[in-house]
Amino acid sequence: NKRVPIVIANWKLNGGIDLLCTSVAAFIGKHFSAKIAICPPYLYLRDMLNFLQHSEIMIGTQNVSKYESGAYTGETSAQMIKEAGGSLCLIGHSERRQMFHENDPSCKIKVTRVLNSGLMPVLCVGENLQQREAGITNDVLFRQLHDALDGLDLGDKRIAVAYEPVWAIGTGKAATPEEAQLVHEYIRSELTVLFGKERAESIHILYGGSVNKNNAYELLSQTDIDGLLVGGASLDPEHFMQICLHAN
Ligand code: G3H
Repeated sequence: NKRVPIVIANWKLNGGIDLLCTSVAAFIGKHFSAKIAICPPYLYLRDMLNFLQHSEIMIGTQNVSKYESGAYTGETSAQMIKEAGGSLCLIGHSERRQMFHENDPSCKIKVTRVLNSGLMPVLCVGENLQQREAGITNDVLFRQLHDALDGLDLGDKRIAVAYEPVWAIGTGKAATPEEAQLVHEYIRSELTVLFGKERAESIHILYGGSVNKNNAYELLSQTDIDGLLVGGASLDPEHFMQICLHAN
């Protein structure tokens, strides 16, 4: 009863549109059993949807506003993302936590907004190097998961979690499949506490942090690794295709 893998490309603040189209051009007209999504900068959402209309690729965003509407200059709401044709939103990426004051309470509001708009939230969690070395990885994850998800009524709505150890992001130093599996197992046990066993078994837990075409397969072979969140390697067409084929 293995979950169908999901591979998500996080393009971060990279462009322009030509480069981004090149990264996924080969996916047009191709069938994958894995689910594949890309998260371009907001401004390219429509362009990418048009470009990918004859592909199976879903579109998501890298962030979302915690507000619904009103005088919030510079924000983009979950409803707008839904209207534009988006399917999912990353929430709480470590770069947003580190540089843009994202925290667990704001993640909670965003998760709720995104669920209510009919999009899938992908809650990003992960410890930094100092926390790992101090042996408090699970404590950090416990807080991030519970503060963002406690009391949430999922109903039949879908949610995913992405485990991204901060020390592995953009460093070329991915967690080993065994290291990642241990943490994913822990995350699933907390999801069980939060949502019950059956529900927790259906939730995708993605790994992110220096994923490339050489480590993708082994990571995905682990019991509780249900997909990948890919940064740098997703901008390289050959690399990203290889990663997605490994998920297939
Ligand atoms: O969201 C993606 C992650 O931040 C991973 O980035 O694959 O460049 O290490 P990376």
